[in-house]
Amino acid sequence: MNKRPLRDAGANLQIVPISKEFIPSCSKIVAETELWRHYGIDYDRAFSMFSTAFESGEHIFVAVLGGDVVGFVWIVPRGMFGRSGYIKLIGVAPQMRGHGIGGALLSFAENELSKHDKDVFLLVSHFNSSAIRFYKKMGYVEVGRLPDYAVKGITEILMWKRLTGRDLS
Ligand SMILES: CC(C)(COP(=O)(O)OP(=O)(O)OC[C@H]1O[C@@H](n2cnc3c(N)ncnc32)[C@H](O)[C@@H]1OP(=O)(O)O)[C@@H](O)C(=O)NCCC(=O)NCCS
Repeated sequence: MNKRPLRDAGANLQIVPISKEFIPSCSKIVAETELWRHYGIDYDRAFSMFSTAFESGEHIFVAVLGGDVVGFVWIVPRGMFGRSGYIKLIGVAPQMRGHGIGGALLSFAENELSKHDKDVFLLVSHFNSSAIRFYKKMGYVEVGRLPDYAVKGITEILMWKRLTGRDLS
């Protein structure tokens, strides 16, 4: 896949806080992603989840390219152990994957979290090998495994990254 054209268009990729108008597109990305079917999340459930999160002021950001929503990331500052950031959900539209959008969203999320947190955690399903490779490439390391944590039969892999340039004392 030729990644260059979109990477060159990176300056046109905007990452902005979610607003009501973006909720249907984010829900569509979730519904079109095979992964989330394992967790029983379809369009309606995603729509209700994003709507509730939006109303509660959760930290969700969307990537917009040429007026279209092409991805999202949901972060929870101090969401792990009351002291570390947590990346709750990240997704890129299926047809737009592998072009740098996920990396841009993750870097943006880490930058936001670094305002409060010195490190960041996330969970990834044991069978989601492409996402595991993606996270490793982005500097995450596996630090644990949670069998049957959210869904019976799925082991959640706990991944961790220190946010550099921070005073760790
Ligand atoms: C995981 C996901 C968010 C990654 O987003 P993406 O836009 O496809 O990833 P990017 O193109 O930004 O890749 C970023 C880096 O990771 C690498 N990478 C991405 N997918 C990879 C893979 N399958 N194997 C190895 N490296 C990979 C890229 O090469 C890139 O590195 P580079 O910048 O040095 O070239 C996206 O594929 C997705 O939405 N997947 C389905 C939902 C999902 O699994 N979410 C995570 C749940 S925990």
